[in-house]
Amino acid sequence: MNISIIGAGYVGLVSGACFAELGNHVICADNDTKKIVNLKKGVLPIYEPGLEELISGNLKNKRLKFTSKIKDAVRSSDVIFIAVGTPSLEKGDADLTGVENVARLIAQNMDGYRLIVEKSTVPVETCARIKKTISTYIKNKYKFDVVSNPEFLREGSAINDFTHPDRIVVGAESQKARQIMRQLYLPLNRQILVTDIKSAELIKHASNAFLATKISFINAVSRICDKVGADVQEVACGMGLDNRIGRYFLHAGIGYGGSCFPKDLDAFITIAENLGYDFKILKAVRDTNQEQKDFVIQKVKEALWIIKDKTIAVLGLAFKPNTDDLRNSPSIDLINALIQEGAKVRVYDPKAMGKARSILKNVTFCKNSYQVARGADCLIVATEWNEFKELDFLKLKNKMQRALVIDGRNIYDPRYLKKMGFTYIGIGHVKE
Ligand code: UGA
Repeated sequence: MNISIIGAGYVGLVSGACFAELGNHVICADNDTKKIVNLKKGVLPIYEPGLEELISGNLKNKRLKFTSKIKDAVRSSDVIFIAVGTPSLEKGDADLTGVENVARLIAQNMDGYRLIVEKSTVPVETCARIKKTISTYIKNKYKFDVVSNPEFLREGSAINDFTHPDRIVVGAESQKARQIMRQLYLPLNRQILVTDIKSAELIKHASNAFLATKISFINAVSRICDKVGADVQEVACGMGLDNRIGRYFLHAGIGYGGSCFPKDLDAFITIAENLGYDFKILKAVRDTNQEQKDFVIQKVKEALWIIKDKTIAVLGLAFKPNTDDLRNSPSIDLINALIQEGAKVRVYDPKAMGKARSILKNVTFCKNSYQVARGADCLIVATEWNEFKELDFLKLKNKMQRALVIDGRNIYDPRYLKKMGFTYIGIGHVKE
């Protein structure tokens, strides 16, 4: 198929590269000309495992192209994906300026039937608005369909999530649209759930909100574990063995972050509010996440007594491993809070150092985990990168002023660290 993807962000780039890999001809369009110039050379704006190789391979075989001219993309495709950003407005609702703009451009440049696929995370009823916008601005009375096809990929494992999704959700009105979408996803050989458009739109927000709820729930349980000396990892394991609960997204830590959960939760709460429903559960999920971040600072204070002038080493800056994304990263919030308290902060992340330099001030950027530990009174693990799981603790201890580890992601065995002479503080993760 000839496909165009409007918006070369995380979802747009991964979807574009994967659809090209499946044998389609794909044009990715973005109005950021600098980004497009780089992408044409195979230079990516993000780090995502496997993506660079996938893009360069498909650039070479000419199944993937990049353009800053949306008109070209609209003209040369049968299926158009909208994958532009939908950032939060001040009140928490999604800014749909980009989506509306793209809908208008599609309408003005269509020269025949098009299937317009909404992939950005948007509030319920956005597809109806896209349809109305296109009908308003369309020049000739070309036929078109709008479908909702939310994306569930995670940063860090995006390619695998795209090619092996648990489910593909398609919200469509016409038989023709449903058929094209089935054909498009046929090579993946996965379950396709076909629904009405509004339900498909809601599945995305409801899924992200539910996953965030799981995380806040287990973080709340970790607080109880801390108080009584139980181990949240074991509690999560015991809960997760129940198929009705499931073992995923029950990993306690320093709170969730990223470009999706915080934004989507705010949006969903606001959507509900606008519809006259007070989504109290989600407000509590949001508050619990904030409390969890504050709680880590409290743990540092309890351990160090005075934070001012202490040297604190932070391992991990990205909001999760295998990405260089710092958006809403709990690690960045933590570092800023420590700086506010007067700490001297040393930081290291395997992939996010470049991006961190432009947003973090007054910290010492280090080359590796051992350099970051030099002279530290405390070492905090903020992101669970694999390389942090395999550190030489003897070497680490020799670099530090005080052998104290705050394991914000519960990646270490407390008994082992204690054996190595460290004071270990986890998140609801105590083992005597
Ligand atoms: C999330 C969803 O998982 C994807 O399905 C969805 O497509 C995506 O948002 C989106 O809407 O675009 P993502 O934000 O990339 O994906 O990453 P997650 O793996 O969900 O992690 C989000 C945050 O939750 C991270 O800060 C992570 O550290 C935290 N987390 C996750 C926990 O604290 N505990 C867990 O058990 C799982």
